[in-house]
Amino acid sequence: MNRNIGVLLSGNGSNLDVIIKENIKVSFVASNNPNALGLKIAAEANIPVYTSTNLLKLEAVTLNLIKKYDVKLLVLAGFMKLLSKNFIYSLPKQFIINIHPSLLPSFKGLNAIRRTLECRVQYTGITIHYVDEGMDTGSIIIQSRVKINGNETFEILKKRLQKLEHQIYPNIIKSILKKNR
Ligand code: GRF
Repeated sequence: MNRNIGVLLSGNGSNLDVIIKENIKVSFVASNNPNALGLKIAAEANIPVYTSTNLLKLEAVTLNLIKKYDVKLLVLAGFMKLLSKNFIYSLPKQFIINIHPSLLPSFKGLNAIRRTLECRVQYTGITIHYVDEGMDTGSIIIQSRVKINGNETFEILKKRLQKLEHQIYPNIIKSILKKNR
């Protein structure tokens, strides 16, 4: 696929890894966390990486990179900062997507999986959504639901949800790139 994406991440980069393996062209990876493991995954795939702990600088660099590489979609893959309104409105509508490990609007924000388990709900899942200026509030593209088993631990549920993310995120990215052609 020739249409480029940019990726913002803060952590392990397992979603980035599957995106790369699915042959989606990643033009750059930017992070607020210089120690993010995802940066290593990017570097090993020869993808340019940029880091700044200063969000405004990171946003400014990201805007430049989007122009430089003619990026068609900005993908958040475990990016743990809230992007500024200014940044979001500098880009076309529905230009940024995010993946979140709950059935939004339930359990927005940090520690979603832990809070889901604490609430003893029967079902959880993952949500892929467009990003607006709120915290996990943008319009929903797709959700996938799983049943929580009795005595399910945080680690097991996290693994199940990540597996689901890895199956779905690359396909959704591909279909958005195709649709926006
Ligand atoms: C994912 O679980 C995603 O839902 C959340 O952050 C996590 C990132 O995981 N937004 P990874 O860095 O892609 O492994």
